[in-house]
Amino acid sequence: MSEPSTEPISYDALVQDERVHASLYTDPRIFADEMDRLFFRGWVFIGHESEIPLPGDFVTRPIGTQPVIMARAMDGQVSVMVNRCAHRGTMVCSEARGNTRTFACPYHGWTYDLTGELLGVPYPTAYDGRLDKKTKSLGCAARVGSYRGFVFACLGPTSVTLEQHLGVATGLIDRACDLSPEGEVQLTAGWVKHRCSSNWKMLPENDLDGYHLGFVHMALFKSVRTQYNRFTGDEKSVKGVVRDWGNGHTEIDWSPAYDGPFEWFGTAASDVVGRYVAALQARDGAAVMARRVFEGPPHALIFPNLFLGEMNIAVVEPVAVEESVHWHTPMFLKGVPEFDRRLLRQSEAAMGPASFLLPDDLTITGRNQIGLHSRRTEWLELSRGVHREHVDAEGRRVSHLTDETTNRGFYRQYRKLMTGA
Ligand code: FES
Ligand SMILES: [Fe+2]
Repeated sequence: MSEPSTEPISYDALVQDERVHASLYTDPRIFADEMDRLFFRGWVFIGHESEIPLPGDFVTRPIGTQPVIMARAMDGQVSVMVNRCAHRGTMVCSEARGNTRTFACPYHGWTYDLTGELLGVPYPTAYDGRLDKKTKSLGCAARVGSYRGFVFACLGPTSVTLEQHLGVATGLIDRACDLSPEGEVQLTAGWVKHRCSSNWKMLPENDLDGYHLGFVHMALFKSVRTQYNRFTGDEKSVKGVVRDWGNGHTEIDWSPAYDGPFEWFGTAASDVVGRYVAALQARDGAAVMARRVFEGPPHALIFPNLFLGEMNIAVVEPVAVEESVHWHTPMFLKGVPEFDRRLLRQSEAAMGPASFLLPDDLTITGRNQIGLHSRRTEWLELSRGVHREHVDAEGRRVSHLTDETTNRGFYRQYRKLMTGA
């Protein structure tokens, strides 16, 4: 690892169009800047409204390294507040989820409502009327927004709206939600968490890397038939594409390589699928239904921390410069509960601790991190496919499935936010 330096950090120098510097993954000062500029001043995904359906429901989450609470107040509104007592800073709520009317701090009993307002303090006379409860709430996120149930927040002040942050990438979230006959996904199975020994950025980079499949996942492809097998072998025969949707939001689209509907689901012939197709067709008509079940769910990053991983949703939690936690949960489709059992089994098989895909990826990101401790070579290459990118009619950069268009898009947004450009 590089020696700690006192030089000011130039993100323009470290993040170039076709290469990035290794210190982005190893320098604690850069990690601290990221927590401030991306995870405090920027929009991040917090959770999904289906996790807190009833008034009083709450979940606790990190935003970057800060603990927060996402709760549904009695009026149905979703609030996001820091999980930090206004008295002496204790984490107020230690439960992962639950239902409550108030949050009581375990240290001296200050009590807050579901929007973070301070309701009362024990033995108040000692404050002699000078404690202004209005200024002692749990700090609320400066902005909270929701798109089709996906809740995002920006803890610090910002002039950017959620609409501006998401831009046209709402189309990726639409692609997921519109697979449900009721137009909603549900993240109700609970989250599996894997700790991994790598910088947080390596997880979204790996998620959106179409180049590694035939190498990192070869053991899977040799033992099981999956829809991904077709993305290995001769480069010219691989038909999927990558897209850069702007603002750091990027996608691998496998569907150009599919031969028929439901390849993403693994089966097209069952009573369950038949009922599902009928429900979608009743809403969308035959042509749109056929397109949806052919294309399947998105494989996309919503910058910086939400991965729409086909039938799983994943979140990266930065812990320290060389440590992260990967969260995932199956994406259930509202209106077709009979799908859920299969989706849960698929999620276990692909993403669980004894699964085929995710352990491969977390092992390789750990090795990626170890390699970056070398001081002889300082740069990571990011140029693959630059010469063959093109811009489509919607203004998105598109290229071959194995090209680094996605990670160049990630780093364009990263550089913009880190430099304040
Ligand atoms: S730190 Fe919370 S009540 Fe004292
Ligand atoms: Fe992978």
